[in-house]
Amino acid sequence: MKTLVIGGNGFIGTNLVESLLQEGHEVCVFDRYPSRYKEPRQDVQYLVGDLGNHGEVHEAVKGMDWVFHLAYTTLPQTSNDDPVYDVRSNLTDTVQLLQECRDSQVKKVVFISSGGTVYGIPKQVPIPEDHPQQPICSYGITKLAIEKYLYLYQRIWGLEYVAARLSNPYGEQQNPHSKQGAIGVFLGNVAERKPITIWGDGEVVRDYIYIKDAVSALVKAAEYQPGPDCPRVFNIGAGCGHSLNQIVEALKQVVDLPVEVKYTPARPVDVPTTVLDITRARTVLGWSPKVSLNQGLERSWQWVKSLSLI
Ligand SMILES: NC(=O)c1ccc[n+]([C@@H]2O[C@H](COP(=O)([O-])OP(=O)(O)OC[C@H]3O[C@@H](n4cnc5c(N)ncnc54)[C@H](O)[C@@H]3O)[C@@H](O)[C@H]2O)c1
Repeated sequence: MKTLVIGGNGFIGTNLVESLLQEGHEVCVFDRYPSRYKEPRQDVQYLVGDLGNHGEVHEAVKGMDWVFHLAYTTLPQTSNDDPVYDVRSNLTDTVQLLQECRDSQVKKVVFISSGGTVYGIPKQVPIPEDHPQQPICSYGITKLAIEKYLYLYQRIWGLEYVAARLSNPYGEQQNPHSKQGAIGVFLGNVAERKPITIWGDGEVVRDYIYIKDAVSALVKAAEYQPGPDCPRVFNIGAGCGHSLNQIVEALKQVVDLPVEVKYTPARPVDVPTTVLDITRARTVLGWSPKVSLNQGLERSWQWVKSLSLI
């Protein structure tokens, strides 16, 4: 398939591009920045552009079969600082993208939503897709609103989509200096011989999924051909939870350097627990995660070591 990956030079995007190429797809990346850690590939077309530039998006979408939408300008923990910016740069520009996809007769849009924020504070764990949705950050609200527009475009204009409510991916290409992604940041801290900082008491539980497992779900989502009343929203996670303290203990088994931990006050945007119920993805997409936490941490550590931070 002719595939456009918007935000394809980021953490998830670079892994997704590799997976798509392995499956024999033709890939074009649209991103405002080059990849931080990977050289451009000869077999990929790279377009430099911004989702907010409608002319650039119009050109990029033309002739594409699949469009993966991974570009996002905000993070859960910063989105409440400026919700207007979140709405303008993510919601409005995504609806514009959907117009372009509809007009260009794109066969499938795969949108990366957020399993960690759309539900808000869970009433039930693991969380199924039909759990009440009450986000406590603007990021979660815009992700959810985009899901609703995807539904609208599918229902009214037949634009096919899948929204993947992704949990907490980790692994190769995850920026160890980012504000997001505990495992990547922790590994970067260890490599640079700095203490790991944990907000709160470390008992916050998350559903950590190894990145290659996550992108294989995204490819399955693109291949999926739903009937009229079939689900189009899927939780994508490992389906099991680990606290930050458990992650630190697991890291100690993998890294060959000392691990020091510093605790600081908790943040208001962090929900106490997120563990996703992935039964729907298993049964409908025929997908399941394959890589254990220990294997994933080992691979992530080898990659962080290759960055020569040590
Ligand atoms: N990493 C996570 O923990 C996580 C969890 C759930 C969902 N997600 C979602 O997955 C998607 C990808 O996340 P990631 O971790 O790879 O992020 P990332 O920051 O590593 O990559 C995002 C890429 O999008 C590009 N981008 C951002 N805004 C753009 C714009 N307006 N125009 C063009 N390019 C733009 C950036 O340059 C970057 O290369 C995002 O939508 C994010 O919200 C991420």
